[in-house]
Amino acid sequence: MSSPDNFESRALLAGIVGETMEHVTRKVPRAEPPELPGNAELQVVGKSVPRMDALEKVTGRARYTFDVQLPGMLYGRVVSSTVPHARIKSIDTSRAAAYPGVRSVHVLEKLLMAAQLRDPGDEAKEPYPLVRFTGQPIAAIAATTARAAEAAAKLVRIEYECLPHVTQLEAAMSNDAPLVFPGPTEQKATAGGGGAAEGLPQKGNLRGPSKGGSRGDVDQGFREADVIVEGDYRTQVQTHVPMETHGVVADWRDDGLTIYASTQHTNSVQDEAAEVFNLPKAKIRAISDFTGGGFGAKYGIGNYGTLAIHLSRKAGAPVRLMLDRREEHVSVGNRPSSLQRLKIGAKRDGSLTAIKMQSFGSGGVAAGASVGSCHHGLYPCANVSTEHFDVFTNAGPCTAMRGPGQVQGIFAFEQAIDALAVAIDTDPIQLREKLDTRDADDVRARAAERRIGAEKFGWSRRRPAGSDAGPLKRGMGMAQSMWPYIVNRYTSCEIRIGGDGTVDAFCSTQDIGTGTKTIFAQVVAEELGLPPDAINVHIGDTNYPPGPPSGGSRVTSSLTPAARNAAFAAARDIANKLAPLLQAKPEQIVFRHGRVGLPGQLETSLSFAEALQRAGIDKLVHRADRREDYDGYARKAGDLYISRQSIGGVQFAEIAVDTETGVVKVERVVAVHDCGRPINPKLIESQIFGGVIQGVSYALYEERHLDDATGVQLNANLDQYKIVGARETPAIEVHLIEQLGRQSSTDARGVAEPANVATAAAVANAFYNATGKRIYTLPMTPANVLAALRGE
Ligand code: MOS
Repeated sequence: MSSPDNFESRALLAGIVGETMEHVTRKVPRAEPPELPGNAELQVVGKSVPRMDALEKVTGRARYTFDVQLPGMLYGRVVSSTVPHARIKSIDTSRAAAYPGVRSVHVLEKLLMAAQLRDPGDEAKEPYPLVRFTGQPIAAIAATTARAAEAAAKLVRIEYECLPHVTQLEAAMSNDAPLVFPGPTEQKATAGGGGAAEGLPQKGNLRGPSKGGSRGDVDQGFREADVIVEGDYRTQVQTHVPMETHGVVADWRDDGLTIYASTQHTNSVQDEAAEVFNLPKAKIRAISDFTGGGFGAKYGIGNYGTLAIHLSRKAGAPVRLMLDRREEHVSVGNRPSSLQRLKIGAKRDGSLTAIKMQSFGSGGVAAGASVGSCHHGLYPCANVSTEHFDVFTNAGPCTAMRGPGQVQGIFAFEQAIDALAVAIDTDPIQLREKLDTRDADDVRARAAERRIGAEKFGWSRRRPAGSDAGPLKRGMGMAQSMWPYIVNRYTSCEIRIGGDGTVDAFCSTQDIGTGTKTIFAQVVAEELGLPPDAINVHIGDTNYPPGPPSGGSRVTSSLTPAARNAAFAAARDIANKLAPLLQAKPEQIVFRHGRVGLPGQLETSLSFAEALQRAGIDKLVHRADRREDYDGYARKAGDLYISRQSIGGVQFAEIAVDTETGVVKVERVVAVHDCGRPINPKLIESQIFGGVIQGVSYALYEERHLDDATGVQLNANLDQYKIVGARETPAIEVHLIEQLGRQSSTDARGVAEPANVATAAAVANAFYNATGKRIYTLPMTPANVLAALRGE
């Protein structure tokens, strides 16, 4: 920890590049590198460097967890419940164990991911975990072939005593509904978010309310209002559907446990394995060379990982256990559903006098189905009351999912703001200009985004609602997103430089497809004056210095300052040793275009390797931490350090509604976003493409369908679980602003979640503009659309 003496005041140029910039004074640790100029003045940072692992991925050489092959490796297969609610009376694994090729069998002692009873005494002690949803993992088999494991899994005999169950939100809310849990519950958050507030009341299947952030007097606020807008909004359960399903290869040997994991956080795999197996962390290593996507559900070892580790220990051999697509949909998380009762009051001029929101969300057997924080933070309002309830059902658990809560909340809230604009006969952008006047960096970012977006999109072409006379109706809508700017508490990077000029960079963080490897290399390369491919990046391994989870849009904000600081320290070290030999002062020496020397004389100067030789350097190791933001944080919650500033964007959608068939087509989306300093515009654009596509998919198609009678998910596949394909993907245009907040040595922030947050709301607002009817229910399937057009 630094003492106050180690800080200095620096005047730094802050603001949106190309717009207004001004000097701000920050207290900066003395060891921090100097202010990094805007991207236009840099060599590598801010450039669209191609993804470093692109070739490995497109040629199939990239080794995902699914591809890991170890000598003597066995194949694991999970046995899951076939009923939605039951006591397990007995489990007979003897026939499975005797099946040819089977090497080990394990029955799960404790279920992870679900809510836990606050007082375990509320339930009679059972030999096996109670079954609370169809598809709940119960046991697993390891065998020499995948086919043998699957055949043996079918031979496990489970005797159930079935209990009454409930799968639908409204049914679960009724007083006489079967109880999913017999008493109050708790659930911890994961590194991706989710989880639930502690100690809330629970009555029947209703847990809550959580009321965090409520303020003022909403009744008074509604009395002051000239206009009131209200509605009940409903959103569906969405599943994560990463390209690579969850899975691990667990390798338990005498000397420790190695876990190859498809994960969003190697360190969380190590942490949870240590906790579940009561092992010292030093004995556990988690590796993720490549992870095929993750949207909030890939943390820790999960039930499948627990089973695989037990199987490996029992068999004395490595075990690969990858979930199949059905298990992926059903058992490892989803975005919870919601029913939101939202009422806002405003003056004739649009200023908000009251916001009242009551939500009921179902995360199945997990808590944490609240609908985000936009009611408190997106626009100023003195009187806000929010009540979030979780409704337990006999269905698979919710987890964090890309913009957890916020996506559902914004769908309703940004529609209510749109409806307010209609009610007071104002343009929706102008209403937001009117509302969004606080003096803050993020407010300035949103204002710039609205202006840029309106121009690029052609907002002036927007017509009054329901203008098209024929059955095909087109319309335009917009919505804003907001997500906290988060920094991870522990982030360290190490740079090793060899005498021949080899540069290696290390951090335990992982690249789940976002481009972490590439931006890591870029930031290091910038300091050393090298091309990015000269940096060997080593990530995805808990043996390296600790790094952030790929969650909460916090990798870039956490990793890049630590990376720059370590590379800066290495460069200064080289400069110090070289300076006397060049009869220069160390601070005069620069690293650019692969050369090291004095500015203006780089052509005649030394190559990077020559500089190391001249300086007599054979090995150099520097490690640096992510320092806290220069301006502090709004709050710290565990490993999450949350800024007073938010990240976000503004999205515009143009859609066509066929009012005869109910088919909606999103034709075009313009997305304008801020992420501090963009490190790699191409990769950011790719993130935003993904966010918009996933948002359109949520708005129009995706929905988990459960069979009430059996709790079985009817569309747990990629055929009937509808996701956008190329044909349904709109033309997407991305614009970025470069905003230097002067909070860290790179000023970079994340973008993944805000990219997904506003899309459904923008599409819904376009629906209103097209048809003159509001759509309160997602997804916008033909049935829901035709109902909305009938005013139902
Ligand atoms: Mo996440 S929902 O940022 O893993």
